[in-house]
Amino acid sequence: MQIHTTIPSLRAARAQAGRVALVPTMGNLHDGHITLMREAARHADTVVASIFVNRLQFGPSEDFAKYPRTLEADSARLEAAGVTHLFAPTEAAMYPQPQRYHVDPAPEHVSILEGALRPGHFRGVATVVLKLFNIVAPDVALFGKKDYQQFIVLQNMAQDLALPIELIAHDTVRAADGLAFSSRNGYLSATERLEAPRLYQQLSAIANAIRKGARHYAELEAAAIAELTRHGWQPDYLTVRRRADLQIAEKTDEALVVLAAARLGNTRLIDNLEI
Ligand code: PAF
Repeated sequence: MQIHTTIPSLRAARAQAGRVALVPTMGNLHDGHITLMREAARHADTVVASIFVNRLQFGPSEDFAKYPRTLEADSARLEAAGVTHLFAPTEAAMYPQPQRYHVDPAPEHVSILEGALRPGHFRGVATVVLKLFNIVAPDVALFGKKDYQQFIVLQNMAQDLALPIELIAHDTVRAADGLAFSSRNGYLSATERLEAPRLYQQLSAIANAIRKGARHYAELEAAAIAELTRHGWQPDYLTVRRRADLQIAEKTDEALVVLAAARLGNTRLIDNLEI
């Protein structure tokens, strides 16, 4: 596997790469990422993985400094998965000076859910992803559905800015007990790790009830929030939304998703389930 730490090195390799699929990550790779890499290989001649812990998307009190940086182990996993190009730029390569131009996502996509709780987060995500797109010039880019709102923002950015890139959202990959793989799962203590699947269980209970015809969303949400709270969680939100734009569902025939974010100890977990 070739590892590129500068933009010119990546661009030189890109010129001979044919159809390229990009899988952007912040590293500390888990099985969910590796599934995305394998899926990416089905869409292109060359898979480019990127690893960059993007300071622009972290709030001042968030975990940028302690975010796990595990480049050696990540490289080994990527190589074993057959990835041939890793773009792992240095901070100086990506931000030689403080970033002055940014992508401002549509307010209706970022004033809710994660965007409301993490001001500036999606601006940072959209800015770095557009920059990665400009550097790698992929034909297709793959993202996990665990970051559901992130995908909505990026898909709308690609559409509004007429980017010639197909964006693909891949199903969330889960451990056998249902917990969605996430780089932040490593922050959980052994006891918290045993408790963590409850988030998915609550989402599943709501999804099953709605599939069976339940329409009292607010009551379902309140019951799930109460159950999590009873087990020591601090939920930020747990809500049934329209899949297309994450607004509150108004018609019964709309495609839905139930999304949640909750803190367990010091770890904030997010998850969602399409209904
Ligand atoms: O989902 C992530 O890991 C990040 O938000 C992304 C898309 C790599 C941008 O930094």
